[in-house]
Amino acid sequence: MKKQITMEKIANLAKRRGFLFGGSDIYGGLQGTYDYGHYGALLKQRVKDAWLRSNVQEMDNVVALDASILMHPKVWEASGHTANFSDALVDDKISKKRYRADHLIEEQLGMKVEGLSNEDLTKIFQENEIKTPEGQKADWTEVRSFNLMFKTHAGPVDTSGPDAGPDADAAAIYLRPETAQGIFVDYKEVQATTRKKLPFGIAQIGKAFRNEITPGKFIFRMREFEQMEIEFFCKPAESKKWHEWWQKERMRWYTDVLGIDKKKLKLRPHTKDELSHYSAGTSDIDYEFPFGFSELEGIANRTDYDLAQHQKVSGKDLTYFDQSDGPKGKSYLPHVIEPSCGVDRIVFALLCDAYVEEPDEKGDVRTVLKLKPSIAPISAAVLPLMNKPELAKLSEKVRDDLAKDLMIDYDVTGSIGKRYRRQDEIGTPFCCTVDFDSLEDKAVTVRERDSQKQERVKIADLADYLSERLT
Ligand code: GAP
Repeated sequence: MKKQITMEKIANLAKRRGFLFGGSDIYGGLQGTYDYGHYGALLKQRVKDAWLRSNVQEMDNVVALDASILMHPKVWEASGHTANFSDALVDDKISKKRYRADHLIEEQLGMKVEGLSNEDLTKIFQENEIKTPEGQKADWTEVRSFNLMFKTHAGPVDTSGPDAGPDADAAAIYLRPETAQGIFVDYKEVQATTRKKLPFGIAQIGKAFRNEITPGKFIFRMREFEQMEIEFFCKPAESKKWHEWWQKERMRWYTDVLGIDKKKLKLRPHTKDELSHYSAGTSDIDYEFPFGFSELEGIANRTDYDLAQHQKVSGKDLTYFDQSDGPKGKSYLPHVIEPSCGVDRIVFALLCDAYVEEPDEKGDVRTVLKLKPSIAPISAAVLPLMNKPELAKLSEKVRDDLAKDLMIDYDVTGSIGKRYRRQDEIGTPFCCTVDFDSLEDKAVTVRERDSQKQERVKIADLADYLSERLT
């Protein structure tokens, strides 16, 4: 039985079991930020490890990078973010609240508005009775653009306020709104030091920041989030082929590696109006969240847009010398395919996908996170049947031995039934109970999360038994 999954159920479970907390909660919270608790941080790490394993460890032609969050302001000028990275916003003069103009129009008029100017959007607001999301009558301002980059300043020169000196603007820098630009800026050095030939990719995981006008939908739209991006450099004539290859590969990753239900995933090509300024073609991988299908990942054909821009603005030669092109070789700018996803959205999708409510033997509801065992934050729990010193010594030894290779939870509090429930809710695939017989037969009872079947396993064989099943 899989009941209707709601945002409320997922958010409640995430809070109750310590996956996620609202950021700065004791001060009333900071909108658009979340903190990952123990199980959330471990789950997030599993996602990142799985991505790095599939895309770097198992791919001979993709290498890793960890670039700075703070970059030279010229980077954002070259990439187009200073001029173009903005959302259209509109203010309600009555409530003094600010909204994404496109979201209000799309939600209330069912119209797609990509590519429309601020003047066109303003006209739509004037000609239609658009209400606030709470259903209240509004008095709208004109629609205007709002740059989403967080601005700060480097060194002891403030860019605003009484300390702003003549150098204030020169000191202004931005928190990166995507990790991608670090890859473009470093691409030549990475290529030279790893001796890669086209096609090759550079993969990076890291924080990105966007001053979203309306953060929300739990961890779907945040102001501080984490991205996993690959820039895959290839010969211009091969870009279409590689774009298609990456779309298939990334869909495979979600189903085969993360275990996400295929029926909940959709590959959605962008319409021409929807394309970003740098893209010759983009397909999104959408997941069916409780609020409908929405983007997990974008796979874009960025052509040579970014390298050409950085070459122009920096004045540095960013061409690649292709020895295999003609008898003397040839220099050119590679084209780039970019699979780009958000770690937090994947964690959210995993929580939704794995969440199951089923009746137990007593007619109560058992909530289980049926995560793929290799992705579950905790691989196995060690549970002494009772909180007695005779059992503690052996149980702690079992825990310490397993913890050399596996993430283990050790839990002695409450009845064994309650402890199973707690482990079910965090998705632990195996619970190993140490009882009084264990002292004699040197074995434990292993309970499997989904079937709830129990099996007696020798302690000496336990690590192998679990490892074989943690796939
Ligand atoms: N370099 C391309 C790029 O950044 P994007 O579609 O703007 O493309 C890529 O972002 C991914 O980053 C998205 O598919 C999404 O998973 C994640 N993402 C973007 N904005 C986000 C936000 N405000 N909160 C959480 N995740 C976000």
